[in-house]
Amino acid sequence: MSSYKISVLPGDGIGPEVINEGIKVLNAIEEVEDLNFHFIEFPYGADYYLETGELLPEDGLEEIERTDAIYLGALGDPRIKTGILEQGILLKMRFYFDQFINLRPVKLYPNVPCPLSNKSYEDIDFYVVRENTEDFYIGIGSKFKGKKDKKELEVVRELYKLKFDVEINSDRIEEVAYQIGLISRSGTERVIRYAFELAKKKNRNRVTSVDKANVLTEIYGLWREVFEEVAKNYPDIEYEFSFVDAITMWFVKNPEWYQVVVTPNMFGDIITDLGAMIQGGLGLAPGGNISTKKVSMFEPIHGSAPKYKGRNVSNPLATILAGQMMLEELGEESAANLIERSVIEVLSEGKALTYDLGGSAKTSEVGDEVAKRIRTLA
Ligand code: IPM
Ligand code: MN
Repeated sequence: MSSYKISVLPGDGIGPEVINEGIKVLNAIEEVEDLNFHFIEFPYGADYYLETGELLPEDGLEEIERTDAIYLGALGDPRIKTGILEQGILLKMRFYFDQFINLRPVKLYPNVPCPLSNKSYEDIDFYVVRENTEDFYIGIGSKFKGKKDKKELEVVRELYKLKFDVEINSDRIEEVAYQIGLISRSGTERVIRYAFELAKKKNRNRVTSVDKANVLTEIYGLWREVFEEVAKNYPDIEYEFSFVDAITMWFVKNPEWYQVVVTPNMFGDIITDLGAMIQGGLGLAPGGNISTKKVSMFEPIHGSAPKYKGRNVSNPLATILAGQMMLEELGEESAANLIERSVIEVLSEGKALTYDLGGSAKTSEVGDEVAKRIRTLA
């Protein structure tokens, strides 16, 4: 029997209630497959921060590092200034564990209402591979008012440690803010390679690269250069470039074209919210923050939705599908498929649907239904 230790971070807002359903489904999997999960819960999030002043302490990170995967609910709370929990917990884990791939499948399931007219579930089924440790997300920058400023800025990653000495001289007193975006050759190469390998594994024949190389010529010029070099190693897979503004249009107009899309971090953030909408909404969109050497993390891509906290109305399917991605990454393909088939059955039957899908089912009822299907399908 395979046994896995899973770090669970329910987080804030609706995080705990959707994670509950995800675990319910994984418990059902344990009953029918030769698998065992040991869940270790961590309290990090808004309440913990308000009580202790700590976001994600070093010993917590070390304990999480000893587990096989991370299952995350959501982070964000109106009592705390925006950015603190996101940077101190979510981005911290993505960087610390070198989760350089953010894999976000965009898949419209049968019977899910799609806001695009004339598109059905056969038309929307692709993967977005978002780079997850670089670009404008490195977060270094500064703000000052005056004529002169000097800052030492640092980026520490598994791949490198970079220091920037930034000196600014202005001819008059002005208030200025700046933030640096960074793309590295090795950081770009590894994520683009992953995208081509994913295309191979999933029998897809086209990889699309996203950038804005017509304006941000330095960083996305390098991204393009690396993309072309990597693409040459995959002669059986077509490749193309798309500017980020254009791809938002094409996602809406012609989503069936896309197979695998690889993108720098920030554009990936933006286009995957659009991707989530064309697959039926954020309630159905999971993501995996994947590290090839350290621990990977799986989460719904939606936020903590504080307004709905504790009301048992949120759609848990994105979290349940994040659990499916986690099992696939752990190499448990058949258990992962079973979760997906069960979700498809629940959606197709159309009875246990939450309000976002036009139903009135509770969060917990959707979890119950998926767990029931797992038992009957197995
Ligand atoms: C996401 C989120 C995060 C991001 C935020 C919460 C930092 O929007 O996972 O897409 O920008 O990556
Ligand atoms: Mn986002």
